[in-house]
Amino acid sequence: MNDRKERLFFALSLDQTPAAKQAFHRLCQVAKALPGKGRPVPTANLHLTLAFLGMVTNEQKQQLIDLTDNIAIPPFSLRCSHLHYKKRNQLIWLGSDNVPLALEQLAARLKQAAEQVGLEQEARRFTPHITLKKRLRHLDEELPGQADFTFHFQHFGLYISEPADTEYGAGVRYRCLHKWPLTKKTSTTRTRNEI
Ligand code: 2AM
Repeated sequence: MNDRKERLFFALSLDQTPAAKQAFHRLCQVAKALPGKGRPVPTANLHLTLAFLGMVTNEQKQQLIDLTDNIAIPPFSLRCSHLHYKKRNQLIWLGSDNVPLALEQLAARLKQAAEQVGLEQEARRFTPHITLKKRLRHLDEELPGQADFTFHFQHFGLYISEPADTEYGAGVRYRCLHKWPLTKKTSTTRTRNEI
């Protein structure tokens, strides 16, 4: 029996459509120019977390994949227009003021699936955010006021966090294990893309 655990999470990649690719490219530039020390999130790791799962067994992963096959949520767009810094968690992130219903439902369904397979989930409300910089103990300069990005999402994925060399030294990389389309169709007519 394989009881090795993996660090997994559900997330949205940010460069799914041509328009989103442009927004993503601009976001990378903004992220690279952020003030303060800290540790920038490598470009390849920028994402929007839907549900953090923590350490997951192979059996739980298979169950999660089966449960997620039954999720039918339509594609949606998300406008992110505010950069935030919080000293308490030492992060800079890009946030959104208006959460589309489809996104809220998707995050809720994934949280429910995680709980169903025995993975503890935080009680707090889902707040979409894109983390841009970590371990920033203090920030003396102002964050750029101009930050307006719209991302279009057509699929979501299950990701693994693995140790890796990054553009900023030793860190982690996020690799997509399974990808699902956002669609109104029911599970009987849908296909799952395995990567
Ligand atoms: P975030 O920066 O979007 O919050 C993979 O580890 C991702 O899961 C991280 O980039 C982080 O995404 C989120 N994450 C990591 N640890 C977490 C935790 N303990 N609780 C909630 N989310 C976490």
